[in-house]
Amino acid sequence: MRAVISGVGHYLPEQKLTNRDLEKMVDTSDEWIVGRTGIRERRILEKGKGTSFMAVRAAKMLLDQKNLPADELDLILLATVTPDMPVPGAVSLVQKGLKARNAWGFDLNGGCSGFLYALASASQFIETGKYRKVLVIGADKMSSIIDYGDRNTCVIFGDAAGAVLLEGAEDCEEVGIMDFDLKMDGEGADFLHVRGGGSLHPASAESVRNKMHYVFQDGKAVFKRAVTEMTDISKTVLDRNRLSKEDIRFLLPHQANIRIIDAVSRKLGLTSEQVIVNIENYGNTTAATIPLAMSEAYEKKLLQKGDWLLLSAFGAGFTWGSLLMRWGMGEITGSGS
Ligand code: COA
Repeated sequence: MRAVISGVGHYLPEQKLTNRDLEKMVDTSDEWIVGRTGIRERRILEKGKGTSFMAVRAAKMLLDQKNLPADELDLILLATVTPDMPVPGAVSLVQKGLKARNAWGFDLNGGCSGFLYALASASQFIETGKYRKVLVIGADKMSSIIDYGDRNTCVIFGDAAGAVLLEGAEDCEEVGIMDFDLKMDGEGADFLHVRGGGSLHPASAESVRNKMHYVFQDGKAVFKRAVTEMTDISKTVLDRNRLSKEDIRFLLPHQANIRIIDAVSRKLGLTSEQVIVNIENYGNTTAATIPLAMSEAYEKKLLQKGDWLLLSAFGAGFTWGSLLMRWGMGEITGSGS
């Protein structure tokens, strides 16, 4: 039994934050942001709504397209670094919002690699035959942990959600998740983190004063490591499966910076036609980048049954990984979104 993606969906908040808007907020320019990151605008979820709001909508788009009742779901994995609140897990709010009465689930914090961690984990529940329908969501309201006075971080991140459904396919079908490799290096915690709000530094007047609830990152260190690790682990997975660059229909990388994506693609010898990129419109939406880009690519009919896709990500932890799959879905047949 292989785990195959049998449905996709996504949600984007309506409000846009453009580079021109940011020029009025911090000392930056459209030219700098586009040149150094490839980002032109990002989406911002309104106040009073949390990550689960977007996750539910992404999942509903998927369920509607498939005409699938939510109570058929067995398990929901929600990759996020921005749960609605510390307790309960945001997945409980998603289960409630979907009325997925027969599903259990858990939140998974793998930074920008969270969706890959969740997808790989979910695939194991399918492959063992334990569950039939597993929903995997990547969703983040990054605007809730960004300091819009810090030009090093506020130009990069945005809010979004993406969802996929995993089901079982018989081995002979030659579709589904074929391999993955996931890594972690806790030494990376110093370079990308939110220090406040956890058990070490609970929220206090002091933690707020010291801006400890915002993302801190050493951009250069993260950048260099991301290029090296995403390239190396992608090569490992390709070599292990005796695949060459020509076999890959698409690299679907985490969207953190166009220069990271370009460097990784170049080192892997891929052409620009083989790389899915949407960072220009949404920035880095952390756990949502890969399922969002996948859902958009599906809508544009870019993905054909049997296509080899290579997913790769790098993020806080440090965490990273690559996942190899053959696309298993045909055309959109349901009611649409
Ligand atoms: N507008 C204008 N100037 C800016 C700026 C902005 N928004 N942000 C930083 N700068 C300045 C810096 O202050 C610095 O000025 P200085 O030389 O006078 O000190 C200069 O630009 C270069 O900064 P640097 O950090 O070296 O730029 P960079 O080329 O590394 O780009 C990032 C910065 C953050 C875009 C880049 O490092 C990056 O994308 N890193 C990875 C981020 C990431 O992927 N994070 C999520 C986890 S996957």
